[in-house]
Amino acid sequence: MLLNVKQYGDSVLRAVSAPVEHITDDLKNLVENMIETMYATEGIGLAAPQVGVNIRLVVIDIPEDEEEGSEQEMIMVNGEEKPMRSIMPLAFINPEIEPYGKQELFTEGCLSVRGIRANVSRPDHVRARLTLLDGSVLELDCGGLLARCLQHECDHLDGFLFVDRVSSAAKITLAKKLKKLAATR
Ligand code: NI
Repeated sequence: MLLNVKQYGDSVLRAVSAPVEHITDDLKNLVENMIETMYATEGIGLAAPQVGVNIRLVVIDIPEDEEEGSEQEMIMVNGEEKPMRSIMPLAFINPEIEPYGKQELFTEGCLSVRGIRANVSRPDHVRARLTLLDGSVLELDCGGLLARCLQHECDHLDGFLFVDRVSSAAKITLAKKLKKLAATR
C-alpha cells in the first residue's frame, strides 16, 4: 500500500521520534509499505516520521553505480568487507550513528521537501549500529552515498531536515521557497 508522504511544514517532521520497543507484525507491515512508497517515489531512503509515524524506523535502498566500468562498492559489515548492494534494501530500527572523516559538500533532496535540492556539508564516513527486523544487529562502516543517506535519514528521527543544515547564505535563498511549500502542502 502506498503511504502519504508528509510535506515540509507538517509538525510530524519536527518531532523527536520514540525508540521502537517491539518488532511486531504491524511494524513489518509498515516497513513493507514504506519500501513500496520509497520505490514509487524514486527515493533512496524513507524515515517513519515522513509517513506520519514518529518512531525510530528507516528504510534505505541505494542503487549500484551504473556507470560503465565502475566497480562494485564495498563497505564493512560486521567487520567483513562486503558489497554495499548485498545489504539492500535495508530496514532498521533505533540506529546509532557516528559520522566521521572530512566534511564533504553534496547535493541533497528529500521526499518531504518537494522540488528543493541544496548542498549540505557532512562528514564523508559513518560508523553505524543498526537493529534489523529479525532482531539482529548490523555494524556498518561506510562512505559514499550510504554514509550520506544514513545521516540524512537519522536526522529525520530527531526532527531535522536537510534544509536546516545548508549554509546561512543558502538558507536565505531557500526561505521564500520553503514558506511557499509550507503554505501549499
Ligand atoms: Ni529526507
